[in-house]
Order: sequence, then C-alpha cells, then structure tokens
Amino acid sequence: MPDSAPIQRTDQLDVMVELLSGLDADGVDAPQAFYDPLCEAVSRLTSMERVMLVLYEDARKLVVPAGSHGIEPELLADVFGTLDETPIAKRALAEDRVVMASDHLEREVPPRYARVLGETTLSCTPVSAGGSWLGVIFADRGGGRFELTGKERHRMWTLGKTAALAASARIATSHQARARLLDERVDLAREVHERVMQRLFGVSLVLGAERELTREERRRAGDEIQAAVGDLRSAMARPIESPPAGTGAKLRDELKRLSRHYDGAPIEISWQRDQEVPEHLEQLAQSVLAEALRNAHKHAAPTKVKVKLAGDDGLFLLEVRNDGVGQSGRGQGAGMGLRLAALDALQRGGVVEFGTLDEGVWRVRLVVPVSGEQA
Ligand SMILES: Nc1ncnc2c1ncn2[C@@H]1O[C@H](COP(=O)(O)OP(=O)(O)OP(=O)(O)O)[C@@H](O)[C@H]1O
Ligand SMILES: [Mg+2]
Repeated sequence: MPDSAPIQRTDQLDVMVELLSGLDADGVDAPQAFYDPLCEAVSRLTSMERVMLVLYEDARKLVVPAGSHGIEPELLADVFGTLDETPIAKRALAEDRVVMASDHLEREVPPRYARVLGETTLSCTPVSAGGSWLGVIFADRGGGRFELTGKERHRMWTLGKTAALAASARIATSHQARARLLDERVDLAREVHERVMQRLFGVSLVLGAERELTREERRRAGDEIQAAVGDLRSAMARPIESPPAGTGAKLRDELKRLSRHYDGAPIEISWQRDQEVPEHLEQLAQSVLAEALRNAHKHAAPTKVKVKLAGDDGLFLLEVRNDGVGQSGRGQGAGMGLRLAALDALQRGGVVEFGTLDEGVWRVRLVVPVSGEQA
C-alpha cells in the first residue's frame, strides 16, 4: 500500500512528538508518567494488549519495570532480572530488532516472569540507542499464539527507539543534576571555610597568646565564636537542593528485593532495628545503600555484601560491608559518590564513615541521631 505509507509515518511521528513533548514536564522523578503512555501507544498502534517496558538500573544491576499497559500492577513486582537470565532480550538488543518466542518461555525470560505470563507468544523490542543497551519492551496479546505483521514490527521498533531517546535524556539529566548538586555543596564548603574558619582562626590566635587575656580580648573572642556559630547555622540552614527524590519505595522493600535478586555478590541482610526507618531518613539511607553497592561492584571483587540496619528510637545506623578489596581499593579515588553521601548525611545531622577494615574488608557506615519529634 504505497499510498498510505506517508500517512502511517505521520501517525507515528505524531505519537513520538506527543510522547516526547511530555518528557521534560515530568522531570526526572516521574519516569512512569512517560513510560506508561509509551506502553499504551504500543498497544494503540499494534495488536498488542499487554505491554511492559523494563530498563536497566545501574544501582541495582538489574532490569526492572519502568512502565506498563494492560498488566495488573501486582504482577510487576515479580518482574526483575538480569540480561543473562533473559536470552530473548539479549537477542533483541544484539540484533536490534523485534524478536518473538512462543515455546519454552521459561528459557527465554526468568521463570518467575514466565509463570506470570502463562501460555503466550511474547515479543521483545530493543530499547537501545548509540550502542547502549538500555532495556526492552515485552508485549503480547494477553495469551495465545500470534504473528506480528511487518508494519507492527516497525512501529514497535520505532517506539523502542523513542523510549531509548527518552531514557538517555533522563540519564543525561540526572548526571547534570548530580554535577549541580556537587557545585552547590562545594559552595557551601567554601562559605563555611571562608567565614567560619576565618573567625575561628582569629580566635585561636588570641587564645594562643602566651599571656593572660584582657577582659576585652576575652569578650571579643567570645563574640567571634558566637558569630562563627551563627554563620555556620545560617550556612547549614540554607536550603540546598535535597538529594534526588526517591521513588517512594521503602528501604525495607528495597532490601527484600535485593536479597531476592541482585546481580552481584550475594547480599546478607541483618535487620536489627525494632523500629521502621524514620521517614525523613528513607531517601538518605537508600542513596547511601545504592552508592555502597555500586562501589562494591566497581572497586572490589566481593564474595559477599553484608547490610546491617541497627539503632533505636534515638539513633539510625546503616552499615554496608564488602570483602574482596584489593590493593587499589584504598580510598584514593577521585570520585564523589561517598563525599556527596557524607554531605547529604551532614544535612540531616548525621555522618558517613568509610574505609578499609582489616583483611580486605570495606565498610561504609551511616549514623544519624534521631530526635523524638522526627521519628
Ligand atoms: N566497596 C569498596 N571497596 C573498595 N574500595 C572502595 C569501595 N568503595 C569505595 N572505595 C574507594 O573509595 C573511593 C571513593 O569512592 P566514591 O564512591 O566516593 O568514588 P568513586 O566510586 O570512585 O566515583 P563515583 O562514586 O563518583 O562514581 C573509590 O575510588 C575507591 O578507591
Ligand atoms: Mg562511587
């Protein structure tokens, strides 16, 4: 049908424009607001009924759902996995085309996911751009066997590219946001250094004098210390952009997921708190955990990662330890992950400590005092 081809193309272009124009309005924090409509568009433009888009998540080293259409949300909880467990996705990405499978789905996708799908033909569309494998779109007709028309394949492939475009834009935005955050924090450190430290240095000179201080000198030193404390308070209270907003997920659920599956060393969790994580520390705790896991993967060859939650109603403690630290992992890196985490903790009145313990073990610890009203 050569005549209708340009019209179809316009349709598809309309859908892409419509989807992409919703992109920046939603910000980085609400990926579903973009990926759900994209899945809906797959279903609208093809004969697919159940559509799900999964993306690779660096922090968890896992592929997890980012959007869906026609699938009950509870079912999505069991959808996570690695590329190695999902040969159909590997083929789709390697060949950059929509691939299909009908038989032995449990060999094509993780078995827990195959169970959810039941008897069906499954299509898998690559979400990749410029050689980066970002994820895939799974789609089917809700059960039963089918073939895709060439037109459908093309539409799905195009929507896969649209998703890839959006996903790479999001990745770039979050890198920029991270750099901006660091800039702000460096400004804060500079301000503290220039104002507070200068005053304290002046005081230390006066106090270091090898003679009795006059009453006037003592008063001035006292005033300077007061002023330094005031400066420090105002610098710390200045609203700095808080760490990126979370997904609303709880640390407890996150850990449950991780202990079930994480594409790294096995994770051993020891929950020694009888309290839940204080609400205002959820995001901080999750970002410290994510950074520690990223680092364990990046800077060591661990056989095990131990995560401990402890403390009581007055204290929150999160500790992540990994073994397998070689000579390189001596904290000499020029990275900013742990430094940012330390600054985030400081803003909540807490600290992040890190370093090697003996026998090649690395430890990251977040400790935050919790007051009664905050808990
Ligand atoms: N789990 C770990 N095992 C061994 N060494 C580690 C571990 N975590 C951190 N390090 C060391 O501490 C340094 C600082 O870590 P940090 O997270 O701040 O930076 P990075 O990971 O190198 O870079 P970025 O986090 O900015 O991507 C690392 O470069 C590494 O040398
Ligand atoms: Mg790091």
